[in-house]
Amino acid sequence: MLLLRDGQAPSTAIHRADYLAPAYWIDTVHLSFDLDPAKTRVLNKMTLRRNADVPAQPLKLDGEELNLARVLVNGQGTSFRMEGEQLVLDNLPDAFELEIFTTCAPVKNTKLMGLYVSNDSFFTQCEAEGFRRITYFLDRPDVMASYTVTLRADKTKYPVLLSNGNLVEQGDLDDGRHFAKWVDPHKKPAYLFALVAGQLVAREQRITSRAGKDHLLQVYVRPGDLDKTEHAMNSLMYSVAWDEARFGLGLDLERFMIVATSDFNMGAMENKGLNIFNTKYVLANQATATDTDYSNIESVVGHEYFHNWTGNRITCRDWFQLSLKEGLTVFRDQEFSQDLCGEASARAVKRIEDVRVLRTAQFPEDAGPMAHPVRPDSYIEISNFYTVTIYEKGAEVVRMMQTLVGNGASDPLGRDGFARGMALYFERHDGQAVTCDDFAQAIADANPASDLARLLPQFKRWYSQAGTPRLHGVGVYDAAARTYTLTLNQSCAATPGQPDKHPFVIPVGLGLVGPDGGDLALQLSGETAPAHGPRTFVITEASETLQFVNVDAEPVPSILRGFSAPVVLEFDYSDAQLLHLLAHDSDPFNRWEAGQRLAVRLAIKSIACDAHETRANPLDDAYIEAMRSVLRHPVLDAAFKDLVLTLPSETYLAEQLDVVDPQRIHAVREAMRQQLAVALQADWASVYEANHENGAYTPDPLSSGRRALAGMALTHLCLAAVASGDKVWPGKTLQRFKDAGNMTDRFNALAALVSSGHPLAAEALPRFHAMFKDEALVIDKWMGLQSGAPDRGGNVLPAVRQLMKHPDFSLRNPNRARSVVSTFCQGNPAAFHRADAAGYVFWSERVMELDAINPQVAARLARALDRWKKLAEPYRSAAREAIARVAAKPDLSKDTLEVITRALAD
Ligand code: BES
Ligand code: ZN
Repeated sequence: MLLLRDGQAPSTAIHRADYLAPAYWIDTVHLSFDLDPAKTRVLNKMTLRRNADVPAQPLKLDGEELNLARVLVNGQGTSFRMEGEQLVLDNLPDAFELEIFTTCAPVKNTKLMGLYVSNDSFFTQCEAEGFRRITYFLDRPDVMASYTVTLRADKTKYPVLLSNGNLVEQGDLDDGRHFAKWVDPHKKPAYLFALVAGQLVAREQRITSRAGKDHLLQVYVRPGDLDKTEHAMNSLMYSVAWDEARFGLGLDLERFMIVATSDFNMGAMENKGLNIFNTKYVLANQATATDTDYSNIESVVGHEYFHNWTGNRITCRDWFQLSLKEGLTVFRDQEFSQDLCGEASARAVKRIEDVRVLRTAQFPEDAGPMAHPVRPDSYIEISNFYTVTIYEKGAEVVRMMQTLVGNGASDPLGRDGFARGMALYFERHDGQAVTCDDFAQAIADANPASDLARLLPQFKRWYSQAGTPRLHGVGVYDAAARTYTLTLNQSCAATPGQPDKHPFVIPVGLGLVGPDGGDLALQLSGETAPAHGPRTFVITEASETLQFVNVDAEPVPSILRGFSAPVVLEFDYSDAQLLHLLAHDSDPFNRWEAGQRLAVRLAIKSIACDAHETRANPLDDAYIEAMRSVLRHPVLDAAFKDLVLTLPSETYLAEQLDVVDPQRIHAVREAMRQQLAVALQADWASVYEANHENGAYTPDPLSSGRRALAGMALTHLCLAAVASGDKVWPGKTLQRFKDAGNMTDRFNALAALVSSGHPLAAEALPRFHAMFKDEALVIDKWMGLQSGAPDRGGNVLPAVRQLMKHPDFSLRNPNRARSVVSTFCQGNPAAFHRADAAGYVFWSERVMELDAINPQVAARLARALDRWKKLAEPYRSAAREAIARVAAKPDLSKDTLEVITRALAD
């Protein structure tokens, strides 16, 4: 067993406070690869020099699963020693050339870190610490070097040879082999290295930047997939244009490549000039991809492209600073997707979707055993810290900075101020490896008169303190004095290693909605005149009071507009107040939020109630009528209606409860869906008629919204039909499934049959498989739909076990493993949390099985039981036992061990 430190982290933890600059710098790297799946030979020739700023010490190079053949210093054989997996050299000159010759076995690399084989092609994944699986190196992001790479391989099997930068030479060799030599004009950390070799084809596009420079954009895929690359290429062109327009950041390479692979641990990777993507985030045509796929591709392509500046040109000093690049780049991709929406209402829909991810995934993380600050203080395995906290909460922290450099008059949203801050960040730090502090300082220094500059030290608590703050509001209207007084108290619960928290800087977007539904002009006591338009108040104390004057009638406060800070807002609204906001709030986020609050309230009341009658009919008439008005609303977008009519997820509901009975939550939510289906049946039918189309397909936000709402209508019509025995709508749905002109409509129809539990699903599912048997990404959807289906009497687990026996199933392919196993364990609470514990047994088996193949994928799955302590009995004890079973397995990877150890810590 590992020793425990600070009561939770095993002693092998790396601490942020222990950061030391490297003992040596690596200036140039010449890599030569003889690519062979079983035995690839790697010659690594580097020039190094001692870092004079730190005391002299031996050179310790990282390596993992390498076979070392030879080490030369200045061309001479030299003595070296191994310390664990590190290669150590003593008594080195101040500057020297080092040659290291190693071999590795890409075909045996099931971890998909370092150099591996997928579909007979070679790919690399180096972030965070994969480069050490390719050669011995100072595998840390603050060591930035110039790379020259020569690739040699069989020309027939591997006609395409790619690496970072520019192709400077290529030609044929003996024995049917050929070579290509690449030079990257930019210095980079090792985690941005990449190579690709295989039979690939590319869609190409030449573009001219605003500065008049020509660039070649390429999207490489397997030969049959070229017809699915148009959308990715368009997304890339939009990304280039957007970064120029909004931040003045242009493409700094002659050639920018995206390559797709179907075996990939993550979504995509921003290697300099050679992004490598999971096929899921590249390939799309209307027959195989849904609207969601299209929009994900757009944001992932954008995200990786935007890293070219935020991550690559300026990188992280150490991995504790990961949010420096990830939080900022998520913020940028969110803004990009919003800006592409055009219409304000579509922007708001995107914002609501982003907040939904934050609240259903990040808030639970922040309240569980893996809680950590946006800038963590320690980790055991860095791969475990590519979390929703680093990404999504990190993006909210950047968003708050933008808000806090806004000034009411000329730049209310802070966009100009934030762009100035970005410009200063690049002026100061281009080409460097820096910290979150450096970033925040640049944004503040570029806006010296801003709230951010004034409050910077306190604002940075968002980087250092984990946990989701609670903001508790109380409003008092004094009719005689014509004042409205809003008191806001903030608090934050303890998280592992952080018992006490200090107050945060919380920007609160605020409006007061009058009885007629319009916004009141806000005038704080002490202000000389009322101000129209949206306002943000900055809260810094544990308790603060805002008093508004000249308020003629009691308003309903609309607090945290646009979700202006990543906090839980508690306010004791009456039902009538929430209905008022749902009907009138000018802020679309809070308008949606009012509906969610009403639904949460009804769900919780019903979950807590032992009377069967209430549990069968959780919704009241007021709620149902409000939903009817939304469905019938003449002006609201279909996409917005779809969001309002979507009940809070079971996971979100669970987070609102202290003790969680997943079966009860599921039963209540299903009852709510059923009620909406039956009570609004006629409206669903009109909504379907008004929104479904058969015309040309375009994945724009407006028509996507209409397809989503039509799909939602079908699901409810099928649900109502299952209850009434009606055959018409299920029949229409099956017909829609057969005739649909695009995957979105086809899949929505199939999902309506599956999610309503209609017997016609049994006819449609095999048909769908037969239609798409050669489309791996569609087979993933097909499997995921079955693993994520609403549980009926425990029927999903046996179906999942059956899917694992399907000839198309493989645990080695991360997408496939996720679509079956993660969808079941992490996306289907009521199917997973079974009273007989069979779901947990299944989970522990898969975690252990996967851990031996791919620790990163296993460690992510291991997090399915993060929140076990909240579970009611018998789930809680059974979950603890299952976790303990995994913990007891000898030679668990440190990835999985870290997750499991934290889950069991108290
Ligand atoms: N740098 C990451 C990819 C990565 C993640 C490498 C974890 C190594 C470990 C990349 O920029 C990224 O963030 N990808 C996301 C998608 C993105 C749109 C949020 C991913 O892969 O999930
Ligand atoms: Zn990223």
